[in-house]
Amino acid sequence: MAQFWKPGTEKPRLVDDEEGGVLFFSSSASSSSSSRFGYASIEKQRQRLPVYKYRTAILYLVEKHATTIIVGETGSGKTTQIPQYLKEAGWAEGGRVIACTQPRRLAVQAVAARVAEEMGVKLGEEVGYTIRFEDLTNSGTTMIKFLTDGVLLREMMDDPLLTKYSVVMVDEAHERSISTDILLGLLKKIQRRRPDLRLIISSATIEAKSMSAFFQTSKRRRALEGEELRPRMDPAILSVEGRGFHVQIHFVEEPVQDYVQAAVSTVLLIHDQEPMGDILVFLTGQDDIDAAIHLLNEEAQTNRKHSSGLIVLPLYSGLPRAEQELIFSPTPRGKRKVVISTNIAETSLTLEGIVYLVDSGFSKQKFYNPISDIENLVVAPISKASARQRAGRAGRVRPGKCYRLYTEEYFSKEMSAEGIPEMQRSNLVSCVIQLKALGIDNILGFDWPASPSPEAMIRALEILYSLGILDDDAKLTSPAGFQVAEIPLEPMISKMILSSNELGCSEEILTIAAVLSVQSIWVYERGVHRELDEAKLRFAAAEGDHVTFLNVYKGFLQSGKSSQWCHKNHVNYHAVKKVVEIREQLRRIAQRLGIVLKSCERDMQVVRKAVTAGFFANACRLEAFSHSGMYKTVRGSQEVYIHPSSVLFRVNPKWVVYHSLVSTDRQYMRNVISIDPSWLIEVAPHFYQHHGRNSFGQ
Ligand code: CDP
Ligand code: MG
Repeated sequence: MAQFWKPGTEKPRLVDDEEGGVLFFSSSASSSSSSRFGYASIEKQRQRLPVYKYRTAILYLVEKHATTIIVGETGSGKTTQIPQYLKEAGWAEGGRVIACTQPRRLAVQAVAARVAEEMGVKLGEEVGYTIRFEDLTNSGTTMIKFLTDGVLLREMMDDPLLTKYSVVMVDEAHERSISTDILLGLLKKIQRRRPDLRLIISSATIEAKSMSAFFQTSKRRRALEGEELRPRMDPAILSVEGRGFHVQIHFVEEPVQDYVQAAVSTVLLIHDQEPMGDILVFLTGQDDIDAAIHLLNEEAQTNRKHSSGLIVLPLYSGLPRAEQELIFSPTPRGKRKVVISTNIAETSLTLEGIVYLVDSGFSKQKFYNPISDIENLVVAPISKASARQRAGRAGRVRPGKCYRLYTEEYFSKEMSAEGIPEMQRSNLVSCVIQLKALGIDNILGFDWPASPSPEAMIRALEILYSLGILDDDAKLTSPAGFQVAEIPLEPMISKMILSSNELGCSEEILTIAAVLSVQSIWVYERGVHRELDEAKLRFAAAEGDHVTFLNVYKGFLQSGKSSQWCHKNHVNYHAVKKVVEIREQLRRIAQRLGIVLKSCERDMQVVRKAVTAGFFANACRLEAFSHSGMYKTVRGSQEVYIHPSSVLFRVNPKWVVYHSLVSTDRQYMRNVISIDPSWLIEVAPHFYQHHGRNSFGQ
């Protein structure tokens, strides 16, 4: 048994999972471990996956039923195999396409690459993928197309019945992302008009019953339509028996103070004391993942023996393709791979060879408060369902061990059983505009898998009205509303782009919009804050972060898009390269919408005005006597502060608008620009008219 716990002191304690000791049952003794060493042919590997035994059953059910719900543990082969079975059975003949949606972009790219490899074809031909700003498909040859659920929603704007698809597989449905939920509601509608369309809903957890109830057509309706209806409208449910091995669960005795540090110590302990086998660590985001990697690297430098043989790799969305490939490639003999991941590896991606699992107990989650109209990305506790999924990742190739960085008491008494669907904890502005663009007017009456709160809905309608996107009858305005719906960005960014046309600064605003669409253009590393701050000063603009971005972008272009230049200036090379790509796409969209490309040269006032026209709802005022830099939101009087990563940190202009909020010990505004308050009434009279003069006084 493991000698474990609290880095250095306490005794280890092994606790079986609350369900009687076995987390995942082993249904067959045959292990797939040979496959990861590359001995088995691809065909053999495919046949070893649990889903293979169900191939005929799946094809039969899809033939007979309009909707098939497939539940199977992560790694059983749902995502990579089912689209191939469908293709083999002829569902892609006659120019039709099989679609498979994922909530996450990185998963789309990874599974598409894998399936192309299994089929021995070039990615982008028979097998392709589409994510926002990246389309690797061929309209003549692509038979299997992986895409994000958000992209499929956008495709509906041009082709409301999704006529080119024969089957749509909505994958990872248990994640209940906002786009998945909208998609399910719309697909249910489409099915009535297209009896030839087949739906597959696949999920890693068993909430199939509620899904099934959602797709059940009422008896009365069936009677009206005639019982001889083909295919059967009642959904079929199929459960794929898993093949996971037993995973031993360890809890900490005492709550940990710093989960990044605790995760790092745990990795080193495992490496010290446990037999070979790869480690997967769940942290929450790029920042704490980078911090953990930094600590492990430091350890490697100071204590070679301790960490020799470790290959440490990050895994988060936005990771460049080359780095993704390292994660999926087999671990060299005598080495131990440590993958430090966001919850993307919880169910969306399967990593072979993981034997040890370190679970921080947290993930980044979105929360929205319709009263204060604040949406936040918060590091929040995961649910029990997630904790079990995470543990299961350790039992794919042989019995594994899971180290939870929280106490058993916490797990059993405080963790919630399941997560809340994203729909019920999000700002609904984008969701409403998409439905409106698809001609769905009665949004409150829409058939949702989980209803959003009426307060959130009303807030969204109100903001869209103020943005000039919806009219008095809650219909899209022409042209602004339709134009905003065309741009695949948050409506506030799209509105900013439209306003830049009138203000004559579209060139600048397109750059800003592209930068706001990537995670961060800076390289963050623990311990090198000072260097980064100094680098930032070279670009810092008194107006704020948005103008600073323009300076960085200009510098990057002037350097000839040099990676050395980026390195020297602590600029994330991959991120700015992405910015260039996204900007190019936005430029094309803008031109299509009739926006005139024009630069305002040095007049940053118009740039700030355009930002305000999009983000007026995020206006804040510095508290008069606050020396702590406290701002209050104009709308909800919420306390907020400028994030330390902003160039306006400690500068504290009187009036600002922000792009987003992050919440740690306080609510921090990210990407901040100073404004003149008189612009607020100018750009959004409806929004601010009820707030009295006081808000804007002196
Ligand atoms: O969707 P589900 O979780 O049921 O499984 P999957 O993603 O289809 O994965 C099936 C198998 O393909 C697993 O054994 C993975 O390790 C393997 N796979 C891979 O090696 N590389 C990828 N990029 C994706 C999957
Ligand atoms: Mg999958």
